[in-house]
Amino acid sequence: MTRVLLAAALFALSAAAAAGGNAQAGKAKAGACVGCHGANGQGAGPIPALAGKSEEELLRALKDYKSGKRTNATMKNAVGQVKDADMPNLAAYFASLKKK
Ligand code: HEC
Repeated sequence: MTRVLLAAALFALSAAAAAGGNAQAGKAKAGACVGCHGANGQGAGPIPALAGKSEEELLRALKDYKSGKRTNATMKNAVGQVKDADMPNLAAYFASLKKK
């Protein structure tokens, strides 16, 4: 059992690493996000910061909004404009920003 769990954990880690989006490409698409999340991903009022979060965490959130696993009308609308292929790049870009 421990072995199975360990194998699963290793797989999850390597899958996360392989997800590695391209932050430069993400920056080019981030215009649709910064109006709400701030030019440096710092967030504003009720809008959460994206800077300082991990790429995996951000990508997971985007996928969950798109699939409906995480429900938020604003973000569902926002991810509706994003191609699946751009999601890892956006996640990589915002993860690369320093939390202010
Ligand atoms: C109209 C304003 C608006 C726009 C545009 C917008 N967001 Fe959001 N975003 C929000 C709000 C509000 C939340 C909090 C939703 C919730 O409570 O789940 C959020 C949450 C998130 C989260 C989850 C953060 C967390 O702490 O879990 C991520 C990731 C995210 N947005 C990424 C993006 C990306 C990438 C874009 C551009 C494609 C984008 N957002 C565009 C308003 C916006």
